[in-house]
Amino acid sequence: MRVLGIETSCDETAAAVVADGRHILSNVVASQVDLHARYGGVFPEMASRAHIEAIVPVVQEAMEKAHIGWDDLDAVAVTYGPGLVGSLLVGVNAAKGLALARGLPLVPVNHLEAHIYAHWLRVEAEGAAPPDLEFPLLALVVSGGHTELILMRDHGAYEYLGGTLDDAAGEAFDKVGRLLGLPYPGGPAIERAARQGDPSAFRLPRAWLEGTYDFSFSGLKTAVVRLVQQHGGTPRGRLQADIAASFQEAVVDVLATKTVRSAEEHGATAILLCGGVSANRRLRAVVRERATVPVYYPPIFLCTDNAAMVAACGHFRLLAGQQAGWDLDVVPGLRLV
Ligand code: KG4
Ligand code: ZN
Repeated sequence: MRVLGIETSCDETAAAVVADGRHILSNVVASQVDLHARYGGVFPEMASRAHIEAIVPVVQEAMEKAHIGWDDLDAVAVTYGPGLVGSLLVGVNAAKGLALARGLPLVPVNHLEAHIYAHWLRVEAEGAAPPDLEFPLLALVVSGGHTELILMRDHGAYEYLGGTLDDAAGEAFDKVGRLLGLPYPGGPAIERAARQGDPSAFRLPRAWLEGTYDFSFSGLKTAVVRLVQQHGGTPRGRLQADIAASFQEAVVDVLATKTVRSAEEHGATAILLCGGVSANRRLRAVVRERATVPVYYPPIFLCTDNAAMVAACGHFRLLAGQQAGWDLDVVPGLRLV
C-alpha cells in the first residue's frame, strides 16, 4: 500500500510517499527557516502564505521522486492538528483536493502520533529502531510545541503519563537561544554552542515535580534570563557556550530521568525518542546511558517535521479503518490522549 503524506502544521511544507508504512519512496521538505529567522520565531501569517506557494511544487516533487503515478497511490494522509491553524488549513485542503480528484481515501493524522511513527520507517542509521518493536513502548515526544511522555500499548492505543505544565522543551531551547544571541531555531544552535562549553559552569534549576511525569521549563528559562542580566546582556564566546551547555544539561537531565523512570515503571520494552528535540545528541546519549531498555531515535531528518512520518502513521490509521469525510477540519489544539 502506498500513501502520500502531507505535512504543513508549522513552518515546513512537506510531502512524502511511503510504501507499507515503512519504506520511504520520497521525502520532500521545503523549510521556511530562512523566512522566520529574522523574527526569531515562526510568524504564523507568513508561514501560511509560504505553505500556499510551496504545497503544489512540493507534492509534485514527492510524486516525481517516488517514480510512481497517481494511479499507484492508495491513500492521502494529512496532518490536521496540532499546529498553526492557517498552516494546517493549507495541507488539509490540498489533501482533500487530491483525494477527491483521485478517488482516494483521506486519512487524518495527528502530528504527535506521526512523530512516534517516524520509528516505523526503515532507515540505515545509528539509533534507528528495529522492525520488530514490541509493545508496550515508552515514547518521549519532544518538539517545539510539545513535551509528553506517552505509553504506547499497541498501534493507536496510547496512555498519557505526563507532559509540560508550561513551555515545551523545544520552545525553551528556542527562547534561550534568543536570549543568548543565537540564530533561530535555538535547539540546534544551542547544541552547537554547548560543544565548546562546560555543562557544570552554572548550576541551573531542575523542576523535578516529584511523584509526577510532568515537566516545567519556565523556571529554568527565568534563571537563564537572570544569568544573562547579571553578566551584562547578550553573552558571547566562552560565556555564551557555558550558559548554552549548562542549560542543555538541565533540560536533558530532567527529560532523561523521567523518561527512563517511566519506562521502567510501566514495563516498556524500549524507549522511543520522538520530535525535533530528539535530534539533540546530548539527550540521545544521556537517555542511552541511563536506560535499562533499548533506546531508539530516528535519523535527524526524520526527527524534525517531515511528511514521511505522516504517511507512515496514515498507513496504520487506514489499516485501523480510520478515514475522514470531506468535512475534515483542522484542530490546532488536537491532543493524542
Ligand atoms: O518537531 P519539530 O520539528 O516541530 C514541531 O512539531 O514543533 O520540532 C522543532 C523544535 C524546535 O523547537 C527546535 O529548536 C527543536 O525542535 N530542535 C532541537 C534540535 N533540533 C531541533 N532542540 C534541541 N537540540 C536539537 N539539536
Ligand atoms: Zn513536529
